[in-house]
Amino acid sequence: MDTALNYNYKVVKQFAIATVVWGVVGMLVGVIIAAQLAWPALNFDTAWLTYGRLRPLHTNAVIFAFGGSALFATSYYVVQRTCQVRLFSDALAAITFWGWQLVIVAAAISLPLGFTQGKEYAELEWPIDLLIAVVWVSYAVVFFGTLIKRKTSHIYVANWFFGAFILTVAILHIVNSAAMPATLTKSYSAYTGVQDAMIQWWYGHNAVGFFLTAGFLGMMYYFIPMQAERPVFSYRLSIVHFWALIFTYMWAGPHHLHYTALPDWTQSVGMVFSLILLAPSWGGMINGIMTLSGAWHKLRSDPILKFLIVSLSFYGMSTFEGPMMSIKTVNALSHYTDWTVGHVHSGALGWVGFITMGSIYYLIPRLSGKKAMWSTQLIEWHFWVATIGVVLYIASMWIAGVMQGLMWRAVNTDGTLTYSFVESVKATYPYYVIRVTGGALYLGGMLMMAFNVFKTVQGGHAVNTRIATLSPAHA
Ligand code: HEM
Ligand code: HEM
Repeated sequence: MDTALNYNYKVVKQFAIATVVWGVVGMLVGVIIAAQLAWPALNFDTAWLTYGRLRPLHTNAVIFAFGGSALFATSYYVVQRTCQVRLFSDALAAITFWGWQLVIVAAAISLPLGFTQGKEYAELEWPIDLLIAVVWVSYAVVFFGTLIKRKTSHIYVANWFFGAFILTVAILHIVNSAAMPATLTKSYSAYTGVQDAMIQWWYGHNAVGFFLTAGFLGMMYYFIPMQAERPVFSYRLSIVHFWALIFTYMWAGPHHLHYTALPDWTQSVGMVFSLILLAPSWGGMINGIMTLSGAWHKLRSDPILKFLIVSLSFYGMSTFEGPMMSIKTVNALSHYTDWTVGHVHSGALGWVGFITMGSIYYLIPRLSGKKAMWSTQLIEWHFWVATIGVVLYIASMWIAGVMQGLMWRAVNTDGTLTYSFVESVKATYPYYVIRVTGGALYLGGMLMMAFNVFKTVQGGHAVNTRIATLSPAHA
């Protein structure tokens, strides 16, 4: 009854391949800027190769091009499979694909040229912002339109997470990007001073919570049960997880602005909500990991499952670390240091990267009419090389960060600083070199994935997949 012909797999495949391509590009830029921090001469005295321009190129490429394409691919696949209907509109879905690629290319050109609004993760100038809004509204219409015409009575939990991500990102983007254009390439924020900062970090933190977390939790709730061939550990917990997480995330933004001009009580509210956030985050992680109950042995032989499950251990680590860093006294040490960068990448490489890789490895053969990826051994290699890469990256940044924090605050008995700033930069050098090594390994793994995907899709065509039991509600 439900054949692949009834589903739109074309757009899923396009986004899945875009994920791999942009993953390679974004991580390559990551390795370049990591190398520039160790060896500054690598900016070759060329304006558009300087660190300040390539850094936002990296963050935009990995978050919006790599992560965004993965979210489009998986949400379009999952919503069709779990609602058992074709996407609401093929034409609109195609507009989201080509529109999103246009946004990415425009970012890749405008950021190195130096056009920026100067707001982190929202750097793109107003014409590109308008294009993003159009693509996003189309995305919402396709996704929610598909939900509305579903053939199942129940809306599977993964769709709740994808839906919250789509809706929230639309609101965040529109509010934070409000600006007065001066020319085609320059605009001024609609907000000023501390209110601008507050809106920016309400946006920034929820970009983490909804772009880098909620949508990827949607992946977790579909691909882990499917790959493990086990129902979700507790469907009830997944519903509590959803509401608790989306309610709490909204209030945590001020932890990015500790010890600033933001009113003190606002900072404390941000800290308290961040601490509360530990509970739903770990509830979700436990729900994902326990889904493997009775199937733990599969971890030995299935590298795709390794990616999916290890991503959850990194998710658990970064969502424990985040609440700790939000405590004001801890933040007094960690802020401005590489500890933050270590925290970011344990979430980004370990959680977002690994869950994406596991999900894309699941999808590619199914979208190409193949039984499995071209080489399972190569997935195994990818897993180990990437894991060593992440560990080198985050361990070096933790050590560097704590060291920097301690050096900056050290004072002699007469009240003078024990270390000059440049001494802390010198002391950081070896850790920057270790980070480049870790990043290069992670990129190496991504190149293995690109090769494996290329060999798998060659000459393939989309086929239908088996429907497994995802939850008691879906039995
Ligand atoms: C090969 C892999 C990667 C390498 C070598 C790398 C390297 C870097 C470097 C050197 C920075 C600048 C840090 C600083 O300013 O001190 C950075 C920032 C950042 N990267 Fe990556 N990155 C990689 C992958 C990723 C991925 C996959 C993501 C997201 C999914 C990501 C998200 C970010 C974010 C959000 C920041 C800004 C952090 C902040 O402002 O604290 N990175 N990365
Ligand atoms: C319970 C969950 C989490 C909490 C409470 C939390 C808390 C924090 C705190 C306190 C900071 C440092 C702010 C500063 O000193 O400037 C931070 C930075 C950051 N976190 Fe988390 N974190 C959590 C989870 C995550 C996850 C899972 C990711 C990635 C997938 C992530 C990505 C980031 C990024 C990108 C930044 C850097 C922002 C910037 O300055 O550019 N966080 N987080």
